[in-house]
Amino acid sequence: MSATAHVPDHGSGPDGTKRDFLQLVALASAAVGAGAIIWPLVDSMNPSKDVLALSEIEVDIAPIPLGSGIIASWRGQPVFIRHRTETEIKEAQAAPLSEMRDPATDAERVKAGHEQWLITSAICTHLGCIPGGIKPTQPRGEFGGWFCPCHGSQYDTAARIRKGPAPRNLPLVPYAFLNDTKIKIG
Ligand code: FES
Repeated sequence: MSATAHVPDHGSGPDGTKRDFLQLVALASAAVGAGAIIWPLVDSMNPSKDVLALSEIEVDIAPIPLGSGIIASWRGQPVFIRHRTETEIKEAQAAPLSEMRDPATDAERVKAGHEQWLITSAICTHLGCIPGGIKPTQPRGEFGGWFCPCHGSQYDTAARIRKGPAPRNLPLVPYAFLNDTKIKIG
C-alpha cells in the first residue's frame, strides 16, 4: 500500500496535506529506527532465512500420543506441542500460584476446550537451552513438566518455572485451532 493512501485529508489545501505527509514520514522513520535496534536481537535467534519465511505453520496434532509431544519449528525457533494427560492437567490446575516465581493460572496458558494441548516456546528462559521432557522417556523434573539439564531449571505441566535459575515461564506462542486435530502457529 502506498504511503499517500494514509495521508489524512483535513480540507486544509496543499499546505495542510504536505504537513500531514511530513508527519507521516517522521512517524515512519521513527518506526524504522526502532525496528533497526530490535532486529539484530531477533535476527540472532533466527539462523535460517528460508525458515523465516514461514511466519505461519500448520501442524497435524492427531498423531501425537497422549502424555507425549513434539517439537515443531516456527520462524526458526523450537515450539513444544504437548498432549497432556488428565492427571497432568489436574496437577497444573491445582498448583498454588503463591509458590510460583512467574504466577499464571493453567487457564491462562491453554485454550478453553482444548486443555489437553499445551503449546509454548521450547527455549528455556534462563540461557536458551531446550529443556527435556517432551517425551515421557525424558527426565521431566519434580513437577512433571520439563527439566532443563543446562542448569537445572524445572517447569511444571503448564510449562511454568517452578525451580532452578530460569526467571520466567516458557513463553506462549500465538496459535489457533483450525479443527480438533490441526493447529496454526503464527
Ligand atoms: S538454560 Fe535452562 S537452566 Fe540454564
